[in-house]
Amino acid sequence: MSTFLVTRTLPEDATEAALRADVLHGLTRTPKTLPPKWFYDAHGSELFEKITELPEYYPTRAEREILLARAAEIASATGARTLVELGSGSSDKTRHLLDALPALHTYVPVDVSESALTQAGQALIAERPSLAVHALIADFTGGLTLPGTPGPRLVAFLGGTIGNLLPAERATFLASVRALLSPGDALLLGTDLVKDESVLVDAYDDAAGVTAAFNKNVLSVVNRELGADFDPDDFAHVALWDAEEEWIEMRLRARSRLTVKIPALDLAVDFAAGEELRTEVSAKFREEGVRGEMAAAGLEMTHWWTDQEGRFALSLSMAR
Ligand code: SAH
Ligand code: AVI
Repeated sequence: MSTFLVTRTLPEDATEAALRADVLHGLTRTPKTLPPKWFYDAHGSELFEKITELPEYYPTRAEREILLARAAEIASATGARTLVELGSGSSDKTRHLLDALPALHTYVPVDVSESALTQAGQALIAERPSLAVHALIADFTGGLTLPGTPGPRLVAFLGGTIGNLLPAERATFLASVRALLSPGDALLLGTDLVKDESVLVDAYDDAAGVTAAFNKNVLSVVNRELGADFDPDDFAHVALWDAEEEWIEMRLRARSRLTVKIPALDLAVDFAAGEELRTEVSAKFREEGVRGEMAAAGLEMTHWWTDQEGRFALSLSMAR
C-alpha cells in the first residue's frame, strides 16, 4: 500500500517574510537582483515544464539520456533505500531512477513549489503502489531536516539547478548536503557543461518566448504577494553568456525610466531606462571543477557520465 505525506517545513508567513526580505534587499541595491527560487509559483512551475520541451533547451533531454543509460549502475553503486531529491519539480526524469532502484523504500522530493510537489507525488503513488512518498515543502538552501527513513541514502540534485546558486552559496549548500549523508550515502548531481555560446544563449532565449515569460513571471509573483505594480511589458527579457564566470545570466531590462510601487514594503523602486535586474545565474561546469567542489565538501566523485554529445553531465559522489 503506497503512502503520500506532505510536510511543510516553513509556515506560509515565513515564506512571505523571506520574499519580502529578498525583494527589499535585491531591489534597493545596485545592480538590482532577485533570487531565482521566486520564479516557481504554480504558473512558473508550469512554464518551466514547457521550457523542458523546447527545441533549444537541451539540458532536460541530455540528462534523461544519461539517466536512462546509467540508472542500473547508479542503483548498484548506491544500493539506495531512500532517494531524496532536491528541487524535484515534476519528478519526471526521476522515474528512470525509481524504476532502477530495487531496494527503494521511500522517495523524499523536496521543493519550494507546493503545486509541483503535490501533482508529482499524487501521480507517483498512483503509478507505484508500493512506494512511500514523503514530500517536503522546503528551501534546500535553508538547513534541511530529513525524515528518519532507512539508508543507504541517495540525494539527487538534477537538472543543473546547482548552477542557479552563486559559487559561495554552492559551497555552503554542498557542505550542508554532506552533513545530511552518512558514510556510504551518495550525491547524484546534474551539471550543465560549458559549450558554444550560441547554443547556450539560444537555450535561455527561445524563439517561442517561453523563457521570457518564465523570467517575467517573477514580477507577477512580487505583484501578487507584495501588492507591487510591475507591468511585465515594461521589461525586456535578456539572456547573456558571461565568459569569465562561465554562467548564463537572465535579466529583465527596463524599456524606459519607471517607478514601481511595492506597498507591502512601503517602497518605491526607480529604474533608469535600460537598467537591468538580474533574476538568475545558470552556471556551466567542467569535470575538474565539479570534482574539486565535491572534494571541498568532503565528497569523493566516483563516476562522471555525459550524454553522447557531451553537453550535460551526471556525477556520483560518495560520502566516506
Ligand atoms: N529537477 C527538475 C526541476 C528543475 S526546475 C528537473 O530537472 O527538471 C528547479 C526546481 O527547483 C523547481 O521545481 C523549483 O521550484 C525548485 N527550487 C528552486 N530553488 C529552490 C530552493 N531554494 N529550495 C527548494 N526548491 C527550489
Ligand atoms: C532549473 N534550472 C536548472 C534552469 C536553468 O537552466 O538554469 C532554470 C531555467 N532558467 C531558464 N530556463 C530554465
